[in-house]
Amino acid sequence: MAQKPGGKDGKGGRALHARLTKKGVIKPSSRRWLERHINDPYVHRAKAEGWRSRAAFKLIEIDDKHKLLKPGQRVIDLGAAPGGWTQVAVDRVKSADGAPRVVAIDYLGMDAVPGATVLEMDFLDDAAPGRLMEALGGAPDIVLSDMAAPTTGHQRTDHLRTVALTEAAAEFALEVLAPGGHFLAKTFQGGTENELLARLKRSFAEIRHMKPKASRSESVEMFLLAKGFKGRQTGGG
Ligand SMILES: C[S@@+](CC[C@H](N)C(=O)[O-])C[C@H]1O[C@@H](n2cnc3c(N)ncnc32)[C@H](O)[C@@H]1O
Repeated sequence: MAQKPGGKDGKGGRALHARLTKKGVIKPSSRRWLERHINDPYVHRAKAEGWRSRAAFKLIEIDDKHKLLKPGQRVIDLGAAPGGWTQVAVDRVKSADGAPRVVAIDYLGMDAVPGATVLEMDFLDDAAPGRLMEALGGAPDIVLSDMAAPTTGHQRTDHLRTVALTEAAAEFALEVLAPGGHFLAKTFQGGTENELLARLKRSFAEIRHMKPKASRSESVEMFLLAKGFKGRQTGGG
């Protein structure tokens, strides 16, 4: 049975709201974040349906529309904690515990996801690509990246850091994807640099930018989808 949001009596949200509005208890910016969280329907749905994060709905929506994840595929999930996308990937490729076909990585620890191998390490560590490929045991059909740098409050810095992560993820995808594979990554509005976009356009059959409904409208977050990898090109492609 679906759980009622906000505790057994369903009043947890109101009680917390009362606590949060008590003067001096919490910083206004944190209070705004918490209030938005409490009132967010995706947070309640994630809890009721057993997803680790509201972010799961972003992948669900994109995959429902573009049919990327299919049973038997291999998936790499970059920036996976707390594991919502990993859960969706495991569910849709039907990855089983004995022979996991989903490998997730994050430098933050996360609880095990049955059907996935989880690596606790920095994707930017030189050893990470090798470890991911070793754990997967074959070329991935899909590389997912929901990586986001911790925010500093300085918009330009935050933007550049996340763009750098998207670029690192794209370089990795271009190196390892199986022909016909797909790359889906978080980016920012106007955030995919022209040079990278041009390379992706040469290497994939189709490139799209999208903003799923579960992505907050006030956030500049977007997703870049590169579909149908044409394979590694010789001669500097
Ligand atoms: C938006 S969260 C991912 C949410 C996740 N997709 C889900 O559905 O639960 C972004 C994650 O990227 C991770 N991250 C950022 N930079 C990273 C890096 N260099 N290596 C590994 N993980 C990174 C963060 O630790 C954070 O957990």
